Amino acid sequence: MTTRIIPVDIFDLAVFGATGDLAQRKILPALYHRDQAGQIPPGARILAVSRRAMSDDDYRAFARKALEAHITEKERSAAEIDTFLKRVSYVTLDATQDKGWEGLAKALKSGEDRIRVFYLATSPDLFGPICERIGKNNLVTPKSRVVIEKPIGKDLESARAVNDAIGKVFPESRVYRIDHYLGKETVQNLMALRFANALFEPLWNADHIDHVQITVAETLGVEGRAGYYDTAGALRDMVQNHMLQLLCLVAMEPPRSIDADAVRDEKLKVLKSLRPIVAHNGANMTVRGQYRAGASAGGAVPGYLDELGSPASKTETFVALKAEIGSWRWNSVPFYLRTGKRLPSRVSEIAVTFKPIPHSVFDDSAGPIETNRLVIRLQPDEGVKLWLMIKDPGPGGMRLQHVPLDMSFAEAFGVRNPDAYERLILDVVRGNQTLFMRRDEVEAAWNWIDPILDEWAESADLPKPYTAGTWGPAAAVALIERDGRTWHEDDAR
Ligand code: BG6
Repeated sequence: MTTRIIPVDIFDLAVFGATGDLAQRKILPALYHRDQAGQIPPGARILAVSRRAMSDDDYRAFARKALEAHITEKERSAAEIDTFLKRVSYVTLDATQDKGWEGLAKALKSGEDRIRVFYLATSPDLFGPICERIGKNNLVTPKSRVVIEKPIGKDLESARAVNDAIGKVFPESRVYRIDHYLGKETVQNLMALRFANALFEPLWNADHIDHVQITVAETLGVEGRAGYYDTAGALRDMVQNHMLQLLCLVAMEPPRSIDADAVRDEKLKVLKSLRPIVAHNGANMTVRGQYRAGASAGGAVPGYLDELGSPASKTETFVALKAEIGSWRWNSVPFYLRTGKRLPSRVSEIAVTFKPIPHSVFDDSAGPIETNRLVIRLQPDEGVKLWLMIKDPGPGGMRLQHVPLDMSFAEAFGVRNPDAYERLILDVVRGNQTLFMRRDEVEAAWNWIDPILDEWAESADLPKPYTAGTWGPAAAVALIERDGRTWHEDDAR
């Protein structure tokens, strides 16, 4: 099976923070892969911007190292890296200063008619100031757009301030807020599954669905990002954005089309329908945890507080919560969310559990009848499993088994699964905002998260400890078991 490659229009892409981690791990490899696939047109330019003094050749050597470190040998070739790096030039600019922008202006010259992308792969507190300076230096052309990454604020008020500052320079139709989960192949497949099949939608409601679970488990710890992470925690880092976006895609009404605003309008309605978790119900609806020393990712690992070097931190590295959506479609259907660092395996999945059959025609010897479950695996082994009851094969009596109808995308299609950034960066060039968060979505998500943060801040409780390499604190198990349910565990995992 081959994938169709449609080249994009010619563009200039200025990457601020070009020597940073994001540029090295994600942006450069994504651009390389798209170039290699023939999707980047001749003449498109990549301007790496950073304050370090470097020549074009210095930066190209730096970028080559990054590509070699983050792309497998099988997926790269020295010749193609050479070709790619010819597109790349370097501009020394301290974007925190008003002065020194002529170099960038000069590098962008003669590209006024092209699509122009400013990718701010920088610290979030620079989003507003950089936009302001881009504006002041008259670098915004009619086809300019800006890309930013989370975290957008640390609560509703600060998110509004960031959005206001960007909005002074770029209209909302030209702001691309990346949530890289939306660029994952299987996340988009969720839309295909729901809206390109007649099978699921009639059952996709409170009459037929018992509950939904969304798990994003990581084996990694904070990996040198403790400074940021300790001010964020799992609720801000994962739930406010990635997990709520997944919840929206599961829960939203069918949009009238796949257009950016049609989809985002529906997601926004879901975010606004989330029942607030406030002081009186907070204790039953949320669990936060913090990992202690244990074994994870194949070896002994220290606890979070040791890694951080700060024994007083109350930052959560694990969250489990029960979200409820106040709508006809989802009345009384809980959405259980859990995410954490240093869990036993890296797995992100959405499990939709259907209601039990109303009456069994089988006798006891058939065994228990389990409920149908649709499991959408985002990573690893992207795919979809539909758990069904079938008859145990063979001439024996009627005995039933719960087995998955299993579709692994890698096996079915045999193509490399592109990284989310490959799709997202080219969507920016194409001007397609469907997979980017609109301002009101980000703010609605904070509006739901803020009371949880407030309640935690006021509570005398500390995050519950859990041993690295386990599925979080026991209270997370109790959260779902209180409702007579259990966390989904795939035996084949
Ligand atoms: C990021 C978080 O947004 O997502 C990280 O800041 C987290 O803490 C990462 O590790 C997970 O992304 P992925 O694609 O590896 O699941």
